[in-house]
Amino acid sequence: MAKSLISIRDFSKDEILHILDIASFMEQNRSQKILDGKVIACLFFEPSTRTRLSFETACNRLGARVIGFSDTSNTSISKGETLKDTIKMVSNYVDMIIMRHPLEGAARYASEICNLPVVNAGDGANQHPSQTLLDLYTINQTQGRLDNITINMVGDLKYGRTVHSLLQALSHFNPKFIFTSPDELKMPTEYKEFLDEKGIGYQETANINDYLNDCDILYMTRVQQERFSDPMEYEKVKNVYKLTASMLNDVRSNMKILHPLPRVGEIALDVDDTPYAYFFKQAENGMYVRMAIIAYLLGYK
Ligand code: CP
Repeated sequence: MAKSLISIRDFSKDEILHILDIASFMEQNRSQKILDGKVIACLFFEPSTRTRLSFETACNRLGARVIGFSDTSNTSISKGETLKDTIKMVSNYVDMIIMRHPLEGAARYASEICNLPVVNAGDGANQHPSQTLLDLYTINQTQGRLDNITINMVGDLKYGRTVHSLLQALSHFNPKFIFTSPDELKMPTEYKEFLDEKGIGYQETANINDYLNDCDILYMTRVQQERFSDPMEYEKVKNVYKLTASMLNDVRSNMKILHPLPRVGEIALDVDDTPYAYFFKQAENGMYVRMAIIAYLLGYK
């Protein structure tokens, strides 16, 4: 079976560090036409701005061509074609599949029914491993290290797939975690048990002010409206946190604010002008990291 990136746990610590090294090279060399003649499919069954456009830009910067869709309404999926048939068809046309899907496990399933590298660009509330690699790249870029970081994850820790993947990846690097969320959106038990098994500590709070001054990375997240089955439940928590510049007076000088984006109100615009905001550079880093992921999975040195 071809090597795929479905879960961040598919990559060893050495592989993660290798990807970050390649990404650093890509940041210094933004066009590397090493994939001339390759065709890559970007299949987005769910909305996306950054992930799709940065993957497509990464393909273009590497010299590959891109096919795909960003909306299933004008594909035969709208006529009832199954995921299996769609993947089998597309896999005959291309050299790699990058896909986002609302169902947990969809990307894993795709990787099992075709003999191509598959990249999971987000599956439901489960995993978003390319986001995790760009988050690690950005943490290393801002802190000069990955080891011994204190990271405060804030917001929707229940449905936010980025925090689930990032927690697992950081477990290689002796982190300390702070989980800031309302009771309704706490980090799921399975992830806390994962940390317990590894002897990694974490603290939980519902008050955003409790640990703002005690972290190296403040990882803000959006409340994931699309994952709520009951709209009233979403209404109760949608405005639970709003980070403003005036809340940052006593933070650590090295502290950086990351966010996978999009934001919908959890970071006020005045935070953008502080030296702590780093989320737009984080999104830019996604392009370099995705260039690295594609090149690595297609076997290029
Ligand atoms: N971070 C992220 O996945 O953004 P998009 O949903 O815009 O791709």
